[in-house]
Amino acid sequence: MPATATDPKDQPKGGQATGAAGAGQSTAKEGLQDVIAGRTAICHVFGGDKEKNYPGRLIYRGYDIDDLAQHATFEEVVHLLWHDDLPTRSQLDQVKQQLGQNRALPSEVIDLMRRFPKDATPMDVIRSVVSTLGLFDPEGAVDTTEANHNKALRLTAQMPTIVTTWHRLRQGKDPIQAKPSQSTAEAFLYMLNGEEPTDVAERTLDVALILHADHEFNASTFAARVTAATLSDMHSAVTSAVGALIGPLHGGANEGVIHMLQEIGEPEKVEPFILDKLKGRGARIMGFGHRVYRGTDPRAQYLREMSRQLGERQKDLKFWTMSRNIEEIMWREKTIHANVDFYSASTYWALGLPTDLFTPIFAVSRIAGWTAHILEQYSDNRIIRPLAEYAGPWQRSYVPIEQREQTAQEGKKS
Ligand code: CMC
Repeated sequence: MPATATDPKDQPKGGQATGAAGAGQSTAKEGLQDVIAGRTAICHVFGGDKEKNYPGRLIYRGYDIDDLAQHATFEEVVHLLWHDDLPTRSQLDQVKQQLGQNRALPSEVIDLMRRFPKDATPMDVIRSVVSTLGLFDPEGAVDTTEANHNKALRLTAQMPTIVTTWHRLRQGKDPIQAKPSQSTAEAFLYMLNGEEPTDVAERTLDVALILHADHEFNASTFAARVTAATLSDMHSAVTSAVGALIGPLHGGANEGVIHMLQEIGEPEKVEPFILDKLKGRGARIMGFGHRVYRGTDPRAQYLREMSRQLGERQKDLKFWTMSRNIEEIMWREKTIHANVDFYSASTYWALGLPTDLFTPIFAVSRIAGWTAHILEQYSDNRIIRPLAEYAGPWQRSYVPIEQREQTAQEGKKS
């Protein structure tokens, strides 16, 4: 049918220029690339520039990630993300105490977890348990600012317990409770293994938690903010975030890195393996590339170094050496840098952590950022509802079902 002045495609929509899509020029930003979708005072990513050799930078509320990774603890960062500044000594003591006292899961939730299929992935378990915790939260139905802060605190305290409880239950072991005085990193390793971690293991995990705690409008945080912006509750918003983190293009990439290293097997097989992979159309090497960083990912350098140090201590640098080689090949072939997931994989591996807990450890850290963003969204809310560029047919008329079947049969015959 020829276009007329009354065709829907000619009608202005949402203030956009009339008929842009109809004229064959797309105005949509695929994957929302380069779109500023809101404001935040929590975190900023400076992408850097690979041509000019400018490294990427990451700040949490104005503090450089380098400064925080070298000097801070995860609990200081949690306070920083939730509030405007680093804590004083008494504020830090308070946040540590509150986290320590709120780690336990309700017994009903543990009973339920005992009935989960033993082969359920830890990320699927986190998603289900976070949602369930909303039913048992003492302030579940209260949506005051104070109640939401309390929920943020409880969820951040409970996240390590969800992961470690599931890991023990699936092995047929009883969950272990952390000691209230333990830091998040220490409590996680203690509840997982049933013994006090070494200082090196605790500090390595602590730094990894600092590095993963927030990353502006990454996919999972954005999912959390979209849910929160409908004025849905904190547990629903975090459940949305966990769902987004599961995907291999986001949090799931670190597990993919270890699977790749295991598949390659030996250092001399790295080059042919990667070159062969890159030949595939749309091939992705896990742990490389980033939507925002064009220069280096500032988090990767810490994880690279931690991975090397752990490998040296254990006199096993195989995965580190292979990883360095992959990094060199990816730069040579694609000028793409490693991201946070690449060396977190060999770091966690060297700590003896089970591979399918790598992404859950991301969640143990990122819960601090998710909840900070949800609180920020609630504090100055407007529902998030963008437009879509319509790519379907513009005008069709209803066809009675008998005629549709007849047309389908005629189509089959021809
Ligand atoms: N391996 C090979 N080529 C890649 C990779 C990769 N990992 N990442 C990007 N490229 C290439 C891609 O082929 C494209 O090249 P060309 O222009 O020649 O077609 C170019 O780089 C741009 O890629 P893109 O897909 O347009 O980038 P994007 O911004 O849409 O996607 C990404 C970003 C992170 C999803 C993607 O880089 C990727 O799939 N990486 C692997 C998964 C991964 O490591 N994810 C963790 C991300 S960081 C932590 C987190 O957020 O969880």
